Amino acid sequence: MSTKILVTGANGQLGKCLKDFVKNKSDKLEFLFVTKSELDISHKQTLNEYFKNHSFDFCINCAAYTNVDQAEESVEEAFKINTEAVGYLAECCSESNTTLIHISTDYVFDGRKDSPYLETDTTNPINEYGRSKLAGEQLITQILKPYFIIRTSWLYSKYPRNFVTTIASKIQEHSELTITTTQKGTPTSCVELSKFIYWLIKNDHKDYGIYHFSAKGEATWYDFALKIADHFGDYDTNKISATTSFKSKAKRPDYSVMNNMKVQKKYHNQNHWTNDVDSVVRDILTIKLFKGS
Ligand SMILES: NC(=O)c1ccc[n+]([C@@H]2O[C@H](COP(=O)([O-])OP(=O)(O)OC[C@H]3O[C@@H](n4cnc5c(N)ncnc54)[C@H](OP(=O)(O)O)[C@@H]3O)[C@@H](O)[C@H]2O)c1
Repeated sequence: MSTKILVTGANGQLGKCLKDFVKNKSDKLEFLFVTKSELDISHKQTLNEYFKNHSFDFCINCAAYTNVDQAEESVEEAFKINTEAVGYLAECCSESNTTLIHISTDYVFDGRKDSPYLETDTTNPINEYGRSKLAGEQLITQILKPYFIIRTSWLYSKYPRNFVTTIASKIQEHSELTITTTQKGTPTSCVELSKFIYWLIKNDHKDYGIYHFSAKGEATWYDFALKIADHFGDYDTNKISATTSFKSKAKRPDYSVMNNMKVQKKYHNQNHWTNDVDSVVRDILTIKLFKGS
């Protein structure tokens, strides 16, 4: 019998990377990827019916309201998707004995710590996005036993738009860039997160709970931009200047590096963030070369 896995929010960058990653696997894992238009997780009734008509061993929730700044104004919408809908999903999983793998964020923390955040550290989000994601986590822990909540940070991929694709295209236009040094976190590749999620399922882990998953090391957004620029030999990196100011609608934690020890006790395949950025930028450049040829 094969293991059946539902992936919601399949059109997002994580959903797409996960789909790419499992494409050539020949294991007895059967993935079903559904986009928002195929399954809107905020429609309770649709979701209930969907789970009544299909049966899954796992549900990976890649669906979320992810616009951190817009969430300050669209608070209701952010909570509808990141909290209420996550609760509906947890109920469906509970009723159908499905393990929920849910993705959460480093923005559940306030950033006042100066050493990497543990899973057990006190949460205290400072923006609406973080509050809505934390409330989603809390619903899962109240409703469901078999769950993995994976908190991750500064996600990027070859699929626009994210920090890497935005900076890479500005560099290609030879733009001047001013990038903040006020926040420290860990850029994490969606490819690497996909590998970890796959590994969790494949090994049929039962140590349910909250896990911090990011790449190794830490960076400011300025460091991150410089690393991307490494790949563009004809770009003058003096055009990238650092600033200590950061103006945005939503506050961000100054420090949101996560301690990965809980994951690392079992999973030994995390790379330093710089290596993962290299491989994603190389992928982006390959696609561009291919398209241009
Ligand atoms: N991006 C980051 O830096 C970051 C950092 C830490 C944690 N995370 C978390 O990582 C997860 C994946 O993020 P991502 O970067 O892949 O996000 P993303 O690219 O914005 O993808 C989110 C997907 O969710 C879909 N969606 C929104 N509302 C939905 C609904 N009601 N029903 C079904 N699907 C819905 C979106 O569809 P539409 O595009 O059609 O709206 C989109 O395809 C999220 O849980 C996010 O909170 C992200």
